[in-house]
Amino acid sequence: MAQRGVLLSFEGGEGSGKTTHARRLSEHLKELGFAVKLTREPGGTPLGERIREVLLGLDDELGPLEEFLLFSTARAQVVRTVIRPALKAASVVVVDRYYHSSYAYQGGGGGLSLEYMRSVTAGIVGDCVPDLVLLLDVAPETGLSRCAGAGGKDGTASDRFERKDVEFHRKVRAAFLECARAEPKRFVVIDASQSEDEVFAQVRDAALVVLRARGLQPTAK
Ligand code: TYD
Repeated sequence: MAQRGVLLSFEGGEGSGKTTHARRLSEHLKELGFAVKLTREPGGTPLGERIREVLLGLDDELGPLEEFLLFSTARAQVVRTVIRPALKAASVVVVDRYYHSSYAYQGGGGGLSLEYMRSVTAGIVGDCVPDLVLLLDVAPETGLSRCAGAGGKDGTASDRFERKDVEFHRKVRAAFLECARAEPKRFVVIDASQSEDEVFAQVRDAALVVLRARGLQPTAK
């Protein structure tokens, strides 16, 4: 059977540093000679980016079910057009948020049934389940204060999820940790209150252990 790639997802609350570390890890693995595909959720495709604008920009009343279905639509497309083909081509796929974000935000934060989300998600992702979930764990007070600088992360205005109260973000954090407890072999929980370099060292080591275990070799150099 042809070698399948490896799927690594980054998860965590607001201001946990996922985007920074997803980019840094992708660059590092490329330098080591691996074929790497970096993508993000919601987004990663033109439709996904538009859904992202709707989801993050809308001030309208939007319940967790509507949110989940919109995220799921974006997810279905990114799995079909980006993640599955890249895994088939034996690449390392790095995804900045994946379905555990739905379990944490719409489930833990919004109260949507986990059982329902699991069954829809199974149909959407199929065998594109992460080999490793890097959960960057930080207290919401710390994460949200990082986002608050310069009007929001990346200097952009805060989005509808960042604007939710700290109690919502505490529930999101607890739900992420519960996902990790339920699947201890798939998750590595990293204390994201440490310095960027300290966090990255743990991210890199955990990723390399999984790549080695899966027997994936650099393709270039
Ligand atoms: P993003 O700007 O990517 O946030 P971050 O930089 O913190 O990763 O925005 C994604 C937002 O969407 C984030 O607040 C979490 C939320 N989200 C969900 O609520 N459910 C989901 O399934 C996904 C993928 C994201």
